[in-house]
Amino acid sequence: METKIINLPKIFDQRGNLSFIEEENHVPFKVKRTFWIYDVPGGENRGGHAFRDTEEFIVALSGSFDVVLHDGEKELVFQLNRSYYGLYVPKMMWREMRNFSTNSLALVLASTPYNPDDYIRDFEGYKELTRCKQV
Ligand code: TYD
Repeated sequence: METKIINLPKIFDQRGNLSFIEEENHVPFKVKRTFWIYDVPGGENRGGHAFRDTEEFIVALSGSFDVVLHDGEKELVFQLNRSYYGLYVPKMMWREMRNFSTNSLALVLASTPYNPDDYIRDFEGYKELTRCKQV
């Protein structure tokens, strides 16, 4: 599946709204890991890498932030600011997270357990790898 915003179910209720995520339904993979990013000081960025194998699904549970993606050729920017939208990020996509609002909370579902060897942290090396794949 390509990069895309996925609408999650929204159950409106006077007592408070509810949304949910089911693996292999709203996210197109089995969830092996969940982590969240919080208490981001103003002006800080997260990410700045790609994954060889990991697919991710990112939700702004609270507040807002931008997910800046690069596929080796072009940049795509997604502003996440609703808890019922998720961004599906395929493997081998360079990502950065910027412009975190105060008290924002980023939930990330991942298709793999944490593995530092899955990271590509050098952008030039990443672009080289994507060029090799296109040939
Ligand atoms: P990292 O993915 O590099 O964060 P970011 O790219 O957003 O700056 O992770 C930061 C640190 O947290 C790094 O030391 C590895 C650790 N970490 C885990 O131990 N498990 C995880 O699932 C994640 C995502 C990170």
